[in-house]
Amino acid sequence: MEKLRVKVWDVPTRLFHWSLVVLVAAAFASGFVGGNWIEWHGRCGLAVVGLLVFRIVWGFIGSTYARFVQFIPGPARVLAYLRGQWHGLGHNPLGAFSVLGLLALTLFQAGSGLVADDNISFTGPLKALVSQDTSDGLTGLHRLNVWLLGVLICLHVASIVFYALVKKHFLLPPMLTGMAETDDLLAKPLRGGGWVAFIAAVLIAAGAVWAASGGLIQPPPPPAQEAPAW
Ligand code: HEM
Ligand code: HEM
Repeated sequence: MEKLRVKVWDVPTRLFHWSLVVLVAAAFASGFVGGNWIEWHGRCGLAVVGLLVFRIVWGFIGSTYARFVQFIPGPARVLAYLRGQWHGLGHNPLGAFSVLGLLALTLFQAGSGLVADDNISFTGPLKALVSQDTSDGLTGLHRLNVWLLGVLICLHVASIVFYALVKKHFLLPPMLTGMAETDDLLAKPLRGGGWVAFIAAVLIAAGAVWAASGGLIQPPPPPAQEAPAW
């Protein structure tokens, strides 16, 4: 059957994905190694916050297949997919659950890190906004969620391998080149997500990183100078 080659993933979505892979891996490694690496752990985590905020904004103003409305799965779409009647482009309805789960768990991981406290030398930049009890609780969840996120990432990669080996459906090349093949000769061409949208999303993400690194928190007052005795 004739196949159509269509652009499915725009450059920002692909850059987002591969930067996220590198930074999440670096955050995992530096978090487990700890010690002096914890400062770098915090920096990687803040960069992840920026990437996630960028992707969320891009989910509204990015190009066709990057938009949440395009792939958020409703019951009708999931049923059609399970019956083998779904022939769209972009994330399929089951894949979309995994994508949303990955985004949610990574967001929780980075968000909880911002108020975490290792009770040695490093605290997240927003720790001053919560009580010690809340910080301790969220630090515990930060350490627990690492494992949930790890399992979901393994499932994510395993399902991509499964699709390739069993279903002969290759999801990786489109995430590298942007182009996918489809039987649907009426597939929507990619629209939207131009430079203005990109710059707006980058500015919002940069603002979020600034706020997450404590930019909005008043610095503590300098210690009072004691008057000299004479
Ligand atoms: C997606 C991003 C992140 C990932 C994957 C991640 C992962 C990890 C890992 C693997 C650990 C070690 C857990 C353990 O030893 O059991 C850890 C600990 C920690 N992380 Fe993160 N983290 C992220 C974001 C952040 C951010 C943004 C901050 C703060 C700026 C942060 C602050 C901390 C702190 C303070 C600890 C030490 C907790 C303790 O000693 O109990 N993390 N993180
Ligand atoms: C080497 C390991 C990885 C490979 C080969 C890989 C591959 C892929 C592929 C092929 C897609 C597109 C799936 C589709 O067509 O529906 C995708 C999407 C996605 N992956 Fe990965 N991935 C990897 C690691 C990760 C990691 C570590 C994360 C971080 C949590 C992650 C998060 C995501 C997200 C959020 C999407 C959705 C992209 C979007 O719509 O913006 N991936 N991945």
